This record gives sequence, C-alpha cells and structure tokens, in this order.
Amino acid sequence: MASRGKWGSKVGFILAAAGSAIGLGNIWRFPYITGNNGGALFVLIYIVAIIVLGLPIMLAEFALGRATAKNPVGAFNAIRPGTKWHFTGFLGVITGVMILTFYSVIAGWTLGYCLKCLGGQFKGIVREKAALVFQSFISDSWVQILWLAVFLLLTIYIVSKGISGGLEKYAKVMMPLLFVIMLLLLIRSLTLPGAEKGLQFYLKPDFSKINGRVFLAAMGQAFFSLSLGMGTMLTYGSYLKRKENLVSSAAWVAALDSLIAILAGFIIFPALFSQNMMPDQGPGLVFVILPVIFSQMPGGVWFGFAFFTLLAVAALTSTISLLEVPVAFLIDEKKWPRRKATWLVGMVAFVLAVPSALSGGGVRFFTNLPILHKDFLSLWDKLWGNIALSIGAFLVAIFVGYVWKTANALDEITNNGVKFRLAKCWVLSIKYVCPLLILIVLISQFF
Ligand code: PFF
Repeated sequence: MASRGKWGSKVGFILAAAGSAIGLGNIWRFPYITGNNGGALFVLIYIVAIIVLGLPIMLAEFALGRATAKNPVGAFNAIRPGTKWHFTGFLGVITGVMILTFYSVIAGWTLGYCLKCLGGQFKGIVREKAALVFQSFISDSWVQILWLAVFLLLTIYIVSKGISGGLEKYAKVMMPLLFVIMLLLLIRSLTLPGAEKGLQFYLKPDFSKINGRVFLAAMGQAFFSLSLGMGTMLTYGSYLKRKENLVSSAAWVAALDSLIAILAGFIIFPALFSQNMMPDQGPGLVFVILPVIFSQMPGGVWFGFAFFTLLAVAALTSTISLLEVPVAFLIDEKKWPRRKATWLVGMVAFVLAVPSALSGGGVRFFTNLPILHKDFLSLWDKLWGNIALSIGAFLVAIFVGYVWKTANALDEITNNGVKFRLAKCWVLSIKYVCPLLILIVLISQFF
C-alpha cells in the first residue's frame, strides 16, 4: 500500500494523532463548554468520559484502521463486505466535512487575532473593550470570509502534500512550543488578584447542578477533543506500521490531549473571575479573556502574537485531520488523485462554512435562527461536534464489539507481541459500557 503513504516513525505518529486531538477543542471549546455547564462538575464527568469512553473507542479505531489499512468507508467494507456497515464510515466522512466548516471559522479568528495583537490593539485593554473588539470582528462578514478562506487554503495546501511529508513535519515542532507559552500564561493567570474564585469554580464540584445536558456536553466534548467518532483516528491508524504499540499510543494521545485542555481551564477561569466576568459567555469566551490577560503581562503584545500563532497551528493540525478523512475516502474508494480530492473537498467545505462565518452578527438570519434562537455556528457545533460524533462512537463500539468481535480486534492490538494488561476492561467497555452509556445519554436529551 505504498501509494497511500505511511508514518515515518512512532513518535511522528503519536505527535500527529495528538496534533489532531489537540486544537481549538482544548483551548477554545473546553473552557467555553465548561463555563456553560457549571464548572468543576462538568470537568469531573469529562475526565471520567475520557477514561471509560474515549480511550476504549480510540483503541478500537486504531485497531480498525491498522487491520484494514483503509479509510473509514473502506474499513467497514473490508471487514463486513456487502452489508450496510460502511454507512458508519460515510457518516464519518460527512461529519468530518461539517466539523471542518465551523472549525475553520474559529480557526480564522485565531489568525485575525494574531494580526490584532501585532497591531497593538490589545495594549492596556479592559474587558468591556475586549468584548467590543471581538463583537465587531465576528460581525464583519467580509473579514470573516477572508480569514476562513485563508485558513482553509493552508489546510488544503498541507493535506495535498500527503502523509509524512506534510502532516508529520508540521506537528513535530510547534506543539511543544505551544505548551511552553501556556505554562507562562498559567503563571500570569494564577497570580492575578481574585484568581481563587476561578479555581473554586473550576475545581469544586457543585452536585446540585447535575443534569442530562451536562452528561451530553461532557461526552461530546470527550469525543470531539480526542477526534473520535468520525474515523479520524481510524484513518490515522491506517497509515501505521504493524510493529507499533496501539495501546501506549492511545494512552499518550489521550494524556497529552487532556493535559492541554485542563491547562487551558487553569489559564482561563482564574483570569475570568479576577475580571468579574461570567463564565457562561459561549464561543467568544477565550477571545475576550485572553487579550485582557496579555494586556496585563510585560511583553504582552508578543505573548499574544505567539500564543495566537501557535493556537492557529494547533488548529491547523486538527483541520488537516478533518480534511484527511474525506480525502482518504476519495483516494481509496474513488481512485482520485490526492490533489484533486483535497481541492474539491476543501472547496465544498468553504461554501458550506459561509453560514457559520456569517453567524456572529454578519447576517441576522444565521445569527439568530428562527425557532431555535441560536446562532448557526453553535447549532452546527452541537449537532456535528456533539451528537454526530457520539452516534459515530456508538456505532464503532457496536461494530467492534459484536460484528468484527473483540477477539479479532485484540488480535490486531497484540499481534506484534504487545502486552495488553487491561484487555478485559477494554472488552467490557466496548461491548457494554460504551454502547449503553452513549445510548442513555443520547436518548435522555429527548426528555
Ligand atoms: N480534536 C480536535 C480538537 O480538539 O480541536 C477537533 C477534531 C478534529 C474533532 C478531528 C474531530 C476530528 F475528527
């Protein structure tokens, strides 16, 4: 399968998979969803969801991918040809394009904010002004479309270059740098006056706030953040060599991903409460609060610039993986050349992203959808980023647990002499815990 490409090394693979996982989901989405869902209790449920649902599903996707060396549609077809199971792969391909649409809009915001930092717009800024700057930025239709286009073009450029030449090279350098900058921001945020209230919100669960919505939000966030439920990790696993250890790879990716998300919370909430701001501000949360933190740091302009640049790169390593799923499908199944597949899907994503780009105030209809009273971007985020991924993860669990069978999956996981001590727990999770929990949480939304 030389023409499909392969990862250059194990570290390269882990970093690329972690690059897919780590992105706006950790730094933009995790804090805002945590803020909307009451803080510490949500964080607790989220961590449980990562361990009991996220890790097992990730391992299942890696195994499916490596066993078949195929894209999501091809993988289901290879194991159960002539059945309807490949629709699970299709759902993944569609979900990938849909997440790419609104994700690229937010990623465009990070690019716009790089320039704003450089231009000194955030010097000495206070929270009211930061909120105004953000609002006028996201309601400017042409600016939104422009940054969206720039970001998608970057994604298309890298994906069209193929696997280890493109994806891997970029992931290796920038991620450690992002981590260092986040540590510096952490110190600043924790030493702001009034930071303790933020820590309390973030760390002290209030069990009276428990409800079905919090569970769906936490489960969806776990899948979104780990890039699960649409075949991304399946596709990345398909470029793996036989000898790699799937268990330790999955553990590394989940650990790195959770570390960055938790760290982001430790940066955002102390700063937020020290500014007397409410945590439930929705998608704009970090774009309002971060400039305020930068304005209170020596060299804030450069910190801000470096931070948003690295965040843009983190987003890029995620959009790359989102685009890679439909592209791998077209290459494998339709025999399209990589360039053609990449450009076509990229263009379609651009057109479909326009409503999200205009939903921050640019066009009234998309900003406040009739009946739902929601903006289009938030709707898409919930629909595709939460519900579709949860359904996808549910189907993967059923497929691996009952159709492919866990014994075959375990064969794939351990066939290179890898010891898997928690194999029994994994089987339990894939066959019973994942399907049941996901189903209960999804169904509970209707009541
Ligand atoms: N995991 C990415 C993030 O947290 O930013 C987003 C994402 C990428 C979701 C790829 C799903 C996916 F397949």
